[in-house]
Amino acid sequence: MRKKVIFGNWKMNHTRNEALNFVLEMNEEIKNAKNHGILIGIAPTYMSLDIVAKKKTKSLLLAAQNVNEHESGAYTGEVSIAMLKEIKNLTHVIIGHSERRQYYNETSVKCNEKMMAMEKANLIPIYCVGETLQQFENDETKEIIKEQIHQGLLNLSSDFVTKMIIAYEPVWSIGTGKNASKEIAQDVCHFIRNEIAKLYGQKVANKVIIQYGGSVKPNNVKEYLTQPDIDGALVGGASLKASSFIELISNLY
Ligand code: 13P
Repeated sequence: MRKKVIFGNWKMNHTRNEALNFVLEMNEEIKNAKNHGILIGIAPTYMSLDIVAKKKTKSLLLAAQNVNEHESGAYTGEVSIAMLKEIKNLTHVIIGHSERRQYYNETSVKCNEKMMAMEKANLIPIYCVGETLQQFENDETKEIIKEQIHQGLLNLSSDFVTKMIIAYEPVWSIGTGKNASKEIAQDVCHFIRNEIAKLYGQKVANKVIIQYGGSVKPNNVKEYLTQPDIDGALVGGASLKASSFIELISNLY
């Protein structure tokens, strides 16, 4: 059976102090969630990773929001895998979030380069895929997702893919309050699993955690997580306040 995994993606929110307070407020609920078989993680900004790593309960998973694919060098403003590896208990990195694809021109080819570098360092990707509103309206969702999966997951090992998290985040549902229906989300997550099966076999595909993301809130999280191919959620806005993230998590018990 696949685990349920919820990640909060803070994007460019929370100072170090705010991040610290959040973690102290959350720690008990994270342990509670683990006892209910649900894993919880957060992806703070680079600035807060070390302080969160020091103060979090062991059960809270920690992710970075991005990483550079090069080992080191003249890449102003970027952060390398080796730098992330120095953060205690940092296990995951969000790759290819639609905001990075949209504002920083990240392509699936670039995401693949990042994930190939991560494989060597044993960091687990939370690889984001999803279509824009226009693509959704033109009925191009599956074509787009197929390209993002096939290009992004090229030349990785089966072992590595087994450990990955894929997040289906339709761009039109992010921060808009217009979440995809559970039927649409399930249909696309099932499609993603099938595409992974074509690349790496059904056994691997059956193990991959697939999350839905896009306006996931305390009152709708359960309908997604009860779908057969949806194993978790990637949460933006509702993960920013400890009270709302706690409510979202506890609504799953
Ligand atoms: P919202 O939950 O704010 O729609 O954001 C989703 C998201 O982009 C998570 O990565």
